[in-house]
Amino acid sequence: MLVDWVREHCHNGTLLQTMDTRFHGNYDKDKASMVLKLGLLCLHPLPSARPSMKQVMEYLEGETALPELAPTHINNVNVMQTRGFPDLTTSIGTFSGLSGGR
Ligand SMILES: *[C@@H]1O[C@H](CO)[C@@H](O)[C@H](O)[C@H]1NC(C)=O
Repeated sequence: MLVDWVREHCHNGTLLQTMDTRFHGNYDKDKASMVLKLGLLCLHPLPSARPSMKQVMEYLEGETALPELAPTHINNVNVMQTRGFPDLTTSIGTFSGLSGGR
């Protein structure tokens, strides 16, 4: 549940609000959001999308830029829209059928 909460914050662009308030903003914001995103990446729904330990080290050392998490969200949205679409087309079809009969 904690992961979903962090993921939601990441999606909302309020990722840094997940940082413990005891830090009182006394941390490197870039590093903090990078580590949080890296955490989400390691918990990716698709195991194949999770980074290897070697990649994790490279991300932490700043040698490699972290991939964007956004595409996964976009893909999920697309899947939902594709599923919702046939219903919409059906209702439009029914609607035109009715108005055509008048
Ligand atoms: C993200 O934004 C939505 C819509 O504004 C809001 O309902 C939700 O509570 C937010 N999530 C978090 C974790 O703040």
